Amino acid sequence: MPVISYDAIPYEGTAVEASHPRRLAALGRLFGIETPPPSSARVLEIGSAIGENLNAIAAGLPGATCLGIDNAPRQVELARETAARLGLRNVRFEPLDIAEAGPALGQFDYIIAHGVYSWVEAPVRDRLLGLCGELLAPGGIAFVSYNCYPGWHLRQPLRELMVFATRNLDAPPGQLVGHARAMAEIVVRTALDLEARLPGGPLYARVLARELEFIADRPDDYVAHEHLEPTNAPVYFADFVAHAAARGLQYVGDAWPLRMAMPDLAGDVAAEFESLAPGQVEREQLLDFVHGRTFRESLLCCAGAAVERPPAPARLRGLALRLLGDLIGPGEERYDPALPKLVHPGGILALRDPDLLEAVRILDARRPAAVPAEELAAAVDPRRFWQRTAPKLLRLFFHGGLQLEAEPARPVPAAGPLPRAFAMARDQARRDGTMPVALTHAVYDVPPLPLALLPWLDGTRTHDDLARLIVEELAPRAEDDAVRAAGVSFATARVALAGALQWLARRGYLEA
Ligand SMILES: C[S@@+](CC[C@H](N)C(=O)[O-])C[C@H]1O[C@@H](n2cnc3c(N)ncnc32)[C@H](O)[C@@H]1O
Repeated sequence: MPVISYDAIPYEGTAVEASHPRRLAALGRLFGIETPPPSSARVLEIGSAIGENLNAIAAGLPGATCLGIDNAPRQVELARETAARLGLRNVRFEPLDIAEAGPALGQFDYIIAHGVYSWVEAPVRDRLLGLCGELLAPGGIAFVSYNCYPGWHLRQPLRELMVFATRNLDAPPGQLVGHARAMAEIVVRTALDLEARLPGGPLYARVLARELEFIADRPDDYVAHEHLEPTNAPVYFADFVAHAAARGLQYVGDAWPLRMAMPDLAGDVAAEFESLAPGQVEREQLLDFVHGRTFRESLLCCAGAAVERPPAPARLRGLALRLLGDLIGPGEERYDPALPKLVHPGGILALRDPDLLEAVRILDARRPAAVPAEELAAAVDPRRFWQRTAPKLLRLFFHGGLQLEAEPARPVPAAGPLPRAFAMARDQARRDGTMPVALTHAVYDVPPLPLALLPWLDGTRTHDDLARLIVEELAPRAEDDAVRAAGVSFATARVALAGALQWLARRGYLEA
């Protein structure tokens, strides 16, 4: 079958939010590991592709030393070009195969391997974890992502169909993806059509259709390397943890704590769960069966490290908290002035406790910045905070309402007189089809006007300069209606500029 090399179709990728050393350091510390300071960390990314993740990390942590390795030379060149444009002196990219890498690379405090483990042959997979085990410094954290079962059992039929459809094609890589998509569409349409004529027919057509829908708006580089790559080996979580253990590594937790939290279960079901799955790994594996999980981002530490489970609320000391949810405001459903509520990725939290409400209000007001736990404690009452509020905040964290950072990023909540955006985001906004990264390492689909403005927000232009820029340069060249409308007059440009800067500030793109 044709092999689509990463040089033929580079994997564009984006920054991987949960892989940032600030996040890895915080998660490690929460579980009792003395993780090294991110600001001076040694960071290795294995399979760094075109450097979208590592360049953003290097740009945000100028005191860190970063190395990216990848065996696709053209991708390495692209990563180096971005680093050079940004003037980064703390990051290197080397063309190197995982199979050939060894202790000569040095020791690293944080190792990232995103989207590599499942996409390489078994010996390379083994070497990947071997490298993490050999190169991870004591107290360090490795972030390894992979496709997993049981969810991938349902994704595989479409992948196998697409691999089959292109197995004998001698066409350029770009055309292979187009052909595979077209074939998949025909098969799925036919299967759905037949199923409709046989009510109650097999689920199979719907399984295929769901997957086709999933990849419909994914870019070709994703489909090429996920659905047409000869190797895509999902693994059960418990087997991954056992593999890591065989290479001197220990499971710490999921990069997204919400995904390892036990759902609220009725008492008898919770007890059944407890008896079926007594340990952390068994419990998370059982949850993967519940959720049909397809992908994992796991954090690992050295085998000898003492991992404290469950984490104690006091472990929030020294960490900063960023709110992820929104307080329900007047006019919104479920609004009740007597009982404020927070809607967050894991559900809705009624803020009955006045101290918790005060802490959430402070976190809300300071967004997108993260607030040190000590500042929250001082604002509430330190003794009560550590006794009563910190456990509640820790619970909120495991339910998806908070992020934790060590040495937090410092986005500003509003644009200053000379707005300045994160340098990496400015560089990305000049290129087509990228998802610019915020200072928090999150990526967003940035709307047209903020996207058009981003490259110009280098701290040298006033709001008037930027409004003139909209009128004279951005609007006349724009294809997007909103950008053209913004440039009708200086007055419209000033209004649109204020909205665009607010959009960027709220998401953490602007710095002081
Ligand atoms: C699916 S991509 C993920 C890229 C990037 N980490 C991301 O998430 O955007 C896999 C990357 O691993 C690299 N890779 C695959 N096999 C490799 C090997 N044996 N040695 C080094 N790099 C490898 C590929 O070139 C590619 O850049």
